[in-house]
Amino acid sequence: MIEVLLFAAVLLSFYIYRRFFTNLPPGPICWYPFVGYLPFLTKDPPRHLDKLRQKYGDVFGLYFGSRYVVCLAEFQTMKEVFNKDTVLERPPEVPFAIYEDSMGLMTLNGPFWQEQRRYAVQLFKEFAFTDKTLEHHIQMEVSHLLKEIDKVVGKPIEPTVLLIPSMSNIISSLAFGKRFEYCDPDRIMLDELIMEIPRRAGQVAYVHYMPWVKKIMLWLKWGSCNKLREALIRREAFCEKRVKLHEESFQEGTFRDYIDYFLHEMQKETRRSSFQRNVLVGNVSSFFGAGSETVRTTIDWLLLVATAFPDVRKKVQSEIDRVIGDRSPVWDDNKSMPYTMAVIWEVFRWKPINPINILRRCTQEMNVKGYRIPKGSIVVSCIWSIHNDPKVFDDPNEFKPERFLKTGDDGEVKVFKPDNLIPFSFGE
Ligand code: HEM
Repeated sequence: MIEVLLFAAVLLSFYIYRRFFTNLPPGPICWYPFVGYLPFLTKDPPRHLDKLRQKYGDVFGLYFGSRYVVCLAEFQTMKEVFNKDTVLERPPEVPFAIYEDSMGLMTLNGPFWQEQRRYAVQLFKEFAFTDKTLEHHIQMEVSHLLKEIDKVVGKPIEPTVLLIPSMSNIISSLAFGKRFEYCDPDRIMLDELIMEIPRRAGQVAYVHYMPWVKKIMLWLKWGSCNKLREALIRREAFCEKRVKLHEESFQEGTFRDYIDYFLHEMQKETRRSSFQRNVLVGNVSSFFGAGSETVRTTIDWLLLVATAFPDVRKKVQSEIDRVIGDRSPVWDDNKSMPYTMAVIWEVFRWKPINPINILRRCTQEMNVKGYRIPKGSIVVSCIWSIHNDPKVFDDPNEFKPERFLKTGDDGEVKVFKPDNLIPFSFGE
């Protein structure tokens, strides 16, 4: 009995200290030593965090393992915080940092990350909108996908199986200037890694908050931690080979793809500090990780929506028939297809692929909404909660593309994207 009272007294003192003397954001006081709140998380962390938001407010804090995590579940607050230079770091808890030599965009920090992210975004925008390389690669890949679908006429097919190589071929084309046949052993190996890495990262997510467990597991070379690390090493080794091939055939002034542009930057006399070979290899590897599964999953959701909501499918189909007909679609068609665009935005809102952004760490103490966020805290944006905020999106559980449509003064229906829709997270 005395032990129970003692335990309750410790908990109460901790609560009083935390609540009245630390000025930390409110949050659950239930936690266990070493593991913190982790055992209380359900199998659906985004919804669970949303329940905590309803209880504690838009800014709340809790312990995952030994790490203090601050959750931002309202758009304006998140925007304000993510615009600050003090949250540009990724903590070592990011699963991809398990391969400690990796220098890609997923693990880089501070000014290196900022410079590489800006460069990648600017270059990809050029591929997409200026020289239309991206459109060309997508059209090519769609024609290959259609041929694959034609091969299985009369039998049911699982779209995912065909979408995986199709999506990652678009990344290969942008990064390596090369697509792979679906049956190419390199393609099959790369696709297995693309599937395995997020699966393993999910399995070991909790371990990252307990660095001592992670160290033991890596030392024993045992379990999913080690398998994740090995898969990341194999993916980088594959990308390293392609970088080497590019170096051997590189011709100044000829730009075949992302690697060539990067090699060109590396050779500039005024070479900037982050343009290094290991960053190039890490970035290309990150593009496969971040760019294949995300797009593939989004398309899977779009197909599912088309099946589950026949009315939505019919409206999209009639827009496609009216605007595109039998030719290949081009990006500019989006301007004449408000309903289709609204369906895409609604899928992003309804089923965000990343319901929580990739972790960030604050490098200086901050004040958010009057609360103190200590230096070193992990900061996450609860994208799922922001997308399901009933103050912004009425009936958030419902799939309603019309919420993004408005009739203009000229009587034309137009699509608009509210600021609060942030499937790609926010800021730098
Ligand atoms: C449906 C498509 C996609 C969605 C929903 C998506 C979403 C996201 C989100 C939420 C983040 C985290 C940002 C943060 O932590 O603040 C992220 C990071 C990243 N994404 Fe995507 N993404 C998509 C497609 C792509 C594609 C096609 C590429 C590459 C070609 C890509 C490359 C990256 C990279 C390199 C990062 C890490 C760098 C960074 O911190 O911004 N993503 N993405």
